[in-house]
Amino acid sequence: MFNEKIYRQRRERLREQIKSGIALFIGNEESPMNYHSNPYHFRQDSSFLYFFGLDSSSLVGIVAVDEGKDLIFGDDISVEDIIWMGEMPSLKERALQVGVNHTAPLKDLRDVLKKALKGGKKIHYCPPYRPETVLKISQLLGIHPEMVKDYSSEELIKAVVEQRSVKIPEEIEEMEKAHEVTYEMYLAAMKMAKPGRYERELAGQMEGICQAAGCYLAFPTILTINGQILHNHYHGNKLQEGRLLVVDSGAESSMHYASDITRTFPIGGKFTKKQKDIYSIVLSAQEAAIRAIKPGIPYKDVHLIAVRIITQGLKDLGLIKGNPEDAARAGAHALFFPHGLGHMIGLDVHDMENLGEDYVGYNHTVKRSEQFGLAYLRLAKKLQPYYVVTVEPGIYFIPALIDKWIAEKKFQEFIDYDRVNQYRDFGGVRIEDDVLVTETGYKILGKSIPKAISDVEDSTAKA
Ligand code: GLY
Ligand code: MN
Ligand code: MN
Repeated sequence: MFNEKIYRQRRERLREQIKSGIALFIGNEESPMNYHSNPYHFRQDSSFLYFFGLDSSSLVGIVAVDEGKDLIFGDDISVEDIIWMGEMPSLKERALQVGVNHTAPLKDLRDVLKKALKGGKKIHYCPPYRPETVLKISQLLGIHPEMVKDYSSEELIKAVVEQRSVKIPEEIEEMEKAHEVTYEMYLAAMKMAKPGRYERELAGQMEGICQAAGCYLAFPTILTINGQILHNHYHGNKLQEGRLLVVDSGAESSMHYASDITRTFPIGGKFTKKQKDIYSIVLSAQEAAIRAIKPGIPYKDVHLIAVRIITQGLKDLGLIKGNPEDAARAGAHALFFPHGLGHMIGLDVHDMENLGEDYVGYNHTVKRSEQFGLAYLRLAKKLQPYYVVTVEPGIYFIPALIDKWIAEKKFQEFIDYDRVNQYRDFGGVRIEDDVLVTETGYKILGKSIPKAISDVEDSTAKA
């Protein structure tokens, strides 16, 4: 964990932001896989980690604004726990490590909250994403489970988003650690990408490298010869020479800061002409978008830079026709690039997404578009120094979407469907890096993982 001062300062700042009441942070529980004592890998709630730092289950933190007091509720472990799970410092000792001087048993939480409510205090909480947390809040505050999300505090959400969006040097260092591991994961996967191997062998190797380095995956690995399926988690295909492999993966550091990288490489180690054409467009779009990153630029504008390059590139290949600017404005490019350019990243790979994408990526200056494609843009607002964002354009040939648009005669003035049909079995290309917004521009996190065509070919196994 970080120095206790960091957690104290964060809670102090929260007190200034929300002005009155109690901010309630419910930590996560162990989550059973198939029976109680066989749980999934434990993952603490990210906002709890951010303000209270403790990475173990069954804890609740409160920031009492008016009293200027922080408190952690939890229970010391029993001898029975020690027999099965080993020793653990007392709650008091653990709380002191994150600068919290007051602790209490979990059974006292309800009364403390009841008393606060009686005294007219507002209890602020973030929208829960696990059912057991919904039930806890329901029981603690007497709210019907279906209404728990609706009563979450917009004031707290905005305060948490404001703090967590701007990364401090210690957090960036953690993200760099995640990238060191991710670099090794990618170079290993590229070396293994020989025809005849199975996707799962590469995915397993990447996960093994991640765990051996003391990290966990930040999200389930996407590693697929069917890159046109954007979040494809199936790993059962055999690698075939001539196909592209899309690998979208990332580690989280031991303190849970994430990386999120995508590379696309040719199985057999050599891009075909057709693959090179598409890959080059995506790479140009990604590099131009990264170069545009600086404080003050709306991320929507960065997205639109990528859109323009992709649309022009597809026009040059004869897949898009007419005026490319008009095609992009109308949204015709979304047949090939149906997602947004990127998202914030930090303690969550899609940082703070559980707090509400519109709070994280939008504000009063920019509203979410309803246009297909642009509507999926997770981040549109102006960038600020020390945001960390992903930049991940792609071009995909999705047969079901192509057929739908053909049937609907959609954008016939902008799309040459005969030409598009020649690419039906192409798959997809995506390239993704994580970028820190600096005071004056940008910095790509991590050691450079091959992405120029010749570097990718040199690093990928030869057939
Ligand atoms: N790894 C999922 C994404 O890139 O958003
Ligand atoms: Mn990704
Ligand atoms: Mn991403």
